[in-house]
Amino acid sequence: MRRLKFEEDMNIVEGLAKLSDAFGVAGFEDEVRDVIKEMVEPYVDGYEIDPLGNLICWRGSGDPVMLDAHMDEVGFMVRWIEKDGFLRLTALGSWDERILLGHRVVIRTRRGEKRLGVIGTTPPHILSESERQKVVPLEELFVDIGAKTREEALSLGVHIGDPATIHYPFAQIRDGYVTGKAFDDRAGCLVAIEALRLTAEERLPYKLVVNFAVCEEGGLRGARAAAYRVAPKLALALEGTIGADIPGVPEAKQPVRLGQGPAITLADRSITVNPRLVRFLEKVAEEEGIPYQYKLPAYGSTDAGPIHLERGGTLAGVVSVPCRYIHSPVSTLLLSDLEATIKLVVGFLRRAPELL
Ligand code: CO
Repeated sequence: MRRLKFEEDMNIVEGLAKLSDAFGVAGFEDEVRDVIKEMVEPYVDGYEIDPLGNLICWRGSGDPVMLDAHMDEVGFMVRWIEKDGFLRLTALGSWDERILLGHRVVIRTRRGEKRLGVIGTTPPHILSESERQKVVPLEELFVDIGAKTREEALSLGVHIGDPATIHYPFAQIRDGYVTGKAFDDRAGCLVAIEALRLTAEERLPYKLVVNFAVCEEGGLRGARAAAYRVAPKLALALEGTIGADIPGVPEAKQPVRLGQGPAITLADRSITVNPRLVRFLEKVAEEEGIPYQYKLPAYGSTDAGPIHLERGGTLAGVVSVPCRYIHSPVSTLLLSDLEATIKLVVGFLRRAPELL
């Protein structure tokens, strides 16, 4: 497939970097929401922030067609502050406990300041052989913020309830292959933003509504409230999803693979997509010459779950950017997949009236 022009690439790289680096732990999305608001403002007629914090943008009039991408990322909340100043965490969203040791965390305080800490580890030198084999549960992990006492931690502005994330800044691994902490789902956010931008000059014969959702991780919460509010006739959830074309995983268990274009969902644990919509997405991809793949059923849950069940039910599906290592701080993706996903979603928006 033809690659986008260099300027388009740069636009995408800069946009994704800005989005991925923004703080947006589930329930604390305000920073990423501000970034998105600024990026979409030139391309929408209006927006509102609902009581949950969803950023709902729209353009045009008629029956609503909704895109949804979630702003939140998996993270933590400070659960306890020990007498000796170490912090204990609880998860916001699902983490793999094997990967948590030895990372830097950023804690956002009530005053909005960012505090650096490290997830400490017991030196291997003093561990027994059996202790070394064991995965340390999140419960037992501690964060060292350099405070000697609980009072000192509080004086640094850190409180129980503060959100935290493992922060790895966006970086290019090589030309066209990038890594960042939150491609699930900032990749989907960028697809939605680019779809708004690329169709900005067109008169689509419906009301295009884009919901940037809160609290997808661990509950698919924001999308449900937004779907009720918007009452879409047709909806597409945009995701960064489970690329598992890595050593040790048989092909039959790789939900999606990098380099094969956008992943069309047939079924996940929250929705079985109406085949009419699947066939339509295939047709758009084939007619536009966009490579695509299926996301193997039935891994993960998405905002399409709650969206298709609201009101009297909505025709809804999912299109995803393949990302490796999601729910870790080192998610990666291929820009060519991201670009192809944007093209598929733009094609979908142009032809959506066929489904209304
Ligand atoms: Co996601």
